[in-house]
Amino acid sequence: MGKNRVRHHVNPLSDRSEYSFNGFGNDRPIFVDIGADRGEFSAGLIANFGDTYNYIVLEIRQPLAQRLEERFAHHENVVVFAGDAVRNLRSLLLQSIVSDGARIATIYINFPDPWFKDRHHKRRVLCKRLLDDVRLWMPLDTEWVYQTDQKMLFDDTIELLQCEGFSRITFFDEPPHNIRTKWEKAKIVNGDRIYRMQFTLQS
Ligand SMILES: C[S@@+](CC[C@H](N)C(=O)[O-])C[C@H]1O[C@@H](n2cnc3c(N)ncnc32)[C@H](O)[C@@H]1O
Repeated sequence: MGKNRVRHHVNPLSDRSEYSFNGFGNDRPIFVDIGADRGEFSAGLIANFGDTYNYIVLEIRQPLAQRLEERFAHHENVVVFAGDAVRNLRSLLLQSIVSDGARIATIYINFPDPWFKDRHHKRRVLCKRLLDDVRLWMPLDTEWVYQTDQKMLFDDTIELLQCEGFSRITFFDEPPHNIRTKWEKAKIVNGDRIYRMQFTLQS
């Protein structure tokens, strides 16, 4: 293959950008969509809940984040961040919790990248590093929702939560607020099962 046809794989996690966010300036509850891709899930939330909530949309891949910026540009209560959710969650949410007195309604991690190889587990969005961080500052009753079609990832994540002492896990079948993204629909057409859980950081 000629040199100019080699495509180098770029690991988006090498983006070490760190954000600070001064909050929305009001105490509306906040939905967080981690790994928003094309933003369909966030758009579904906005269609359901409109201006009664604020929305933080996170996507690590720059081109996708750019499109999300454009998609939600006319919504004052939506902010899009292009970067690693694990690295930035604290700085994006702390100000809203502390200064604005806002509640984090739900943090959605929908169909995260599975990172199958053992040595890549630390790249998973829901990882020990994130749990160790959030338990220091996030209200423990904050709701988290996790959805995936990857059984091994789902089982690993349950095990991680249990090892870290988080036992308030509930499993459910139907998509939250009846929002199914194209990603989920494609999995269902393929005959894949979707695994879903809700948890809090309480033991
Ligand atoms: C399989 S897609 C999920 C799409 C979407 N959540 C849905 O349900 O349709 C996973 C997305 O998560 C993003 N992502 C992966 N790791 C991330 C991280 N650490 N921070 C933010 N986004 C991440 C990927 O770039 C990708 O767009």
